[in-house]
Amino acid sequence: MADLLGRMTRPEKVGQMMQLDAHGDLADHVLNRHVGSILHTSPQRLVEAHDLTARTRLRIPLLVGEDCIHGHSFFPGATIFPTQLGMAATWQPELVERVARTTAVEVAPTGVHWTFSPVLCIARDLRWGRVDETFGEDPFLIGELASAMVRGYQSDGLGDPTAILATAKHFAGYSETQGGRDASEADISRRKLRSWFLPPFERVARQGCRTFMLGYQTTDGVPITVNDWLLNDVLRGEWGYTGMLVTDWDNVGRMVWEQRVQPDHAHAAAAAVRAGNDMIMTTPEFFAGALDAIDRGLLAEGDLDAAVTNILTLKVELGLFEDPRRPDPERQRIVIGHPDHTALNLDVARRSLVLLRNDGVLPLAGGCVADDSGRGRADDRPARRIAVVGPLADDAQTQLGDWAGSSGQAGWLPDGQPRELIVTVLDGVRAYAPPQWSVTHAPGADILTLAPDPEGEFFPDGQPRPQVVVPCAPDPATIADAVAAAEAADYVVAVVGDRIELVGEGRSTATLELVGGQVALLDALAATGTPTIVVLLASKPLVLPASASDAAALLWVANPGMQGGRAIAEVILGLVEPTGRLPVSFARHVGQQPTYYNQIRGQHGTRYADLTQRPAFVFGEGLSYTTVDYSDLRIVSTDLGPADTVRAEVTVHNTGGRPTRETVQVYVSDTVTSVSWAEKELKAFRQVELAAGETATVLVEVPVADCTIVDARGERVVEPGSFDLLVGPSSRDEVLLRATFTVVPTAGEDAVGRR
Ligand code: NOJ
Repeated sequence: MADLLGRMTRPEKVGQMMQLDAHGDLADHVLNRHVGSILHTSPQRLVEAHDLTARTRLRIPLLVGEDCIHGHSFFPGATIFPTQLGMAATWQPELVERVARTTAVEVAPTGVHWTFSPVLCIARDLRWGRVDETFGEDPFLIGELASAMVRGYQSDGLGDPTAILATAKHFAGYSETQGGRDASEADISRRKLRSWFLPPFERVARQGCRTFMLGYQTTDGVPITVNDWLLNDVLRGEWGYTGMLVTDWDNVGRMVWEQRVQPDHAHAAAAAVRAGNDMIMTTPEFFAGALDAIDRGLLAEGDLDAAVTNILTLKVELGLFEDPRRPDPERQRIVIGHPDHTALNLDVARRSLVLLRNDGVLPLAGGCVADDSGRGRADDRPARRIAVVGPLADDAQTQLGDWAGSSGQAGWLPDGQPRELIVTVLDGVRAYAPPQWSVTHAPGADILTLAPDPEGEFFPDGQPRPQVVVPCAPDPATIADAVAAAEAADYVVAVVGDRIELVGEGRSTATLELVGGQVALLDALAATGTPTIVVLLASKPLVLPASASDAAALLWVANPGMQGGRAIAEVILGLVEPTGRLPVSFARHVGQQPTYYNQIRGQHGTRYADLTQRPAFVFGEGLSYTTVDYSDLRIVSTDLGPADTVRAEVTVHNTGGRPTRETVQVYVSDTVTSVSWAEKELKAFRQVELAAGETATVLVEVPVADCTIVDARGERVVEPGSFDLLVGPSSRDEVLLRATFTVVPTAGEDAVGRR
């Protein structure tokens, strides 16, 4: 390594630190700027990029990165899983790990070495456009799932030819930007970061996640790109992180042209290098800027060495010097979209669906039994008529969500992933309802169109402004068609939600309502009196009209991926049990933001003058087709020292007639704290399969060392005293059993138990 570093010229070192967009002039990137990495590379350009690298002086292998965040997003025919938020609703780390492993297996033979996944941001303000990319609102759940995903991507080590680099992003506090406005100032203190936002990152850093990506935000006036405390004191210092740090898109340039905290690109480059960034994503000016900075004495050439070494180290760990892992068409043919991957995709989609309301209409007709092909079997009951309506009932690409196919980041899949690989809800109901049942379809509403920004088509600096969303007005004729279908049916399945134009980077929303003609459609359907199952195919929690929240049934499905329509049909038909649980709370009104469950204690009253503060549906909620009773919570030993583990047993009884997979949730409440703290926090969860009528005893364990708060000095401590252990099916107080334990100080601790 030292030898290679010694042979590199100054421009080669600067180039090694750069990651450029492969949409641009690839030959220039590789041959003239000596880039160490590229991203957003079409399958065809990937081959070209590897060929170009072979022509460079030192033949340092190229590191190819891509956002393969719920599958190999932009590779034609790859398996596209539910979005990260959908996966989070499974509350199943082992399933999420298999998704990541499978994704890596599909990614590795395509010449991509590095995925920019998982996202560890905490989703608190639902207006933010990237809620769908997160694992939701709880740091513990995020840590469990992110850790599983990192394991899946990186396998047992990067030497495994099917391993790819994982990225923990976006470090740290990006989701806390004001008003949900993407990439603005995040007003977040160090203590708040340590309390909620850093723990998931710490977990994967210590676990060996080999790359970290920064967010976009500034905090206390400091752009994350030069946040010395977070990057050096915390990440590399306290946590001992030795991996690579990559900026987000043009973070270094944005310090000049957007945040205006650097006078020019030379200063920006110098500041970014000094702050410990290794890879500079898509700031073409970094090349001249860094060289200029060295000429002007703002930076020494030796200052580049640590970053270049970190990058080369990863290339060595991946074995790229021996095998640059070029695209392997033969293996691609074998693994991309493999039937086993499709089966896993279906399994995850099934587990990700969250039933929020059911007046008994589901499963339809009391539930079907599958025939040998998996389809609902005909029986001697009368055939049913189902009207599948709504603008998203047959919208294949929307079902995949952001960062997939035609979602906008990659130009080479203008029509998205192949239609024949995607099962929409309409496809699913047609294919899996008993053959004697009839299925009709009417879209019923349009959602939106796009129009030029009224402030002008261009920003003052000449850059094009993104188009703005114009909601479609309800169309009486379109609604009338859906109403006619509903009136002629026994059940309506209404698929409504959001579209890609309302989701993603730079696409935060001021409102959370269903856009366009959708509310009018649901209202009209409700007026027909035909039992309506609302399928909310929405990237994030939305605020629902009464016609949705009071419908016969309500199922939130996030963006459920290629197999989503089949999974939804199966749950509706009772071929599969609904078992998903909310990883994020649903608000009743946009003005309630934020509605996360683990809020800080202490306020006057519990409500707004004009509205409850209670969310519509809270973290952890979700129904099954059966009921599970919790009883007899008993803590084995209630007096514990700081090194002990709280062990408790709880009895769960499936009191209904169908099986389920119950998610037993374990929260801890520290009854008195030295500084204000959350009323309760998730500390553990376990899933248990329960046959109809079955009773089980579930052992839950929480190490006392996890029963921490962050004190006024910013230190994470266990404060001796009384705690409540809360166990139940969601974070709602009303459904949690409570038992008390006491943490006894050990000798040498002061009054509040600091160690
Ligand atoms: C910007 C996004 O914030 C980040 O999540 C993504 O990985 C990069 N662009 C690369 O596409």
